[in-house]
Amino acid sequence: MNISITKTTAPKAKPDWHTLKFGNTFTDHMFMMDYEEGRGWHDARIVPYQNISLDPASCVFHYAVEIFEGMKAYYGVDGKIRLFRPEMNANRMNRSGARLCMPEFPVADFMQALKTLVELEKDWIPTLPDTSLYIRPVMIATEPHLGVSISKSYLFYIMLSPVGAYYPEGLNPVKIFVEDEYVRAVKGGTGFTKCGGNYAASLIGQKKAHDLGYSQVLWLDGEHHQYIDEVGTMNVMFKINGEVVTPELTGAILPGVTRDSVIHMLKSWGMKVTERRISLEELHRAAADGSLEEAFGTGTAAVISPIGNLDIAGHSYTVGDGGIGQLSQKLYDSLTGIQWGKLKDEFGWTVEL
Ligand code: COI
Repeated sequence: MNISITKTTAPKAKPDWHTLKFGNTFTDHMFMMDYEEGRGWHDARIVPYQNISLDPASCVFHYAVEIFEGMKAYYGVDGKIRLFRPEMNANRMNRSGARLCMPEFPVADFMQALKTLVELEKDWIPTLPDTSLYIRPVMIATEPHLGVSISKSYLFYIMLSPVGAYYPEGLNPVKIFVEDEYVRAVKGGTGFTKCGGNYAASLIGQKKAHDLGYSQVLWLDGEHHQYIDEVGTMNVMFKINGEVVTPELTGAILPGVTRDSVIHMLKSWGMKVTERRISLEELHRAAADGSLEEAFGTGTAAVISPIGNLDIAGHSYTVGDGGIGQLSQKLYDSLTGIQWGKLKDEFGWTVEL
């Protein structure tokens, strides 16, 4: 793929790296590429970060034909820049696209676009502990047409954002609200995809939780409202009686890159990890009898987010001693250790630029 590069003539001032939040600062350039039926993907270009001009009738605005990915580039302690399992994101984006009848984006082109853009923007990769360059690939349907049908044209773009912690709590434990009214996704729907609509559907639960004084939502399955799906914008894991359990991938759950990495890592440490259905009733019992030793969310943006407090059916339970669990801390240190080049990457997960 030939990528044309137009450099900005007005580079932006870099942000204060010490006060970086999540997702509100963007770098100088972005990658863009167009698709038309019959012609395929064309016009790969890196251009100054800019507004996108689209016909108001574009499918994306009416029927939410949009998918995205979330990944990060890390500036290592050894000065090397690393990506973490980027092909998993490329493949997941194609699975999301297939569900929404969007065209496949070739994995090799995804990797080339990503590496070329990150290399060009390497001065934007923060170097302070717990910071990174968040990468957001997006695909939208652009055909101007009000009928509900498969779009004939698309735009793929990648934007970059230097970030600090996703949740203001950082690694500090969060308080979770179990949502039993609204659901995020159902089997057979789009829960396993990273499409904007899933996140739009989650906002009301987040608002309710925040209004009630909680930081995140524990989503239950859409059919029975009984089984655990995800937490906030992350997958969720529980350590019960020494064993780590996590909801199996039912089709309603996002197959997280961090989730997969944590499962591999735990198994490599000799721990028992089981992917299965987990009922709220089981969690309630484990929290009540003290066998729930730890609970944490896993995700690219948040990495590991320990859960310190769970409210189930009117009962408020402190998980463990309410602090950062030993296993959560070890997982955080091990994952970020590999990402920042502090630890040997024995799994072969990182891709150096
Ligand atoms: C991620 O963890 O990368 C996500 O995409 C979650 C959220 C920011 C939507």
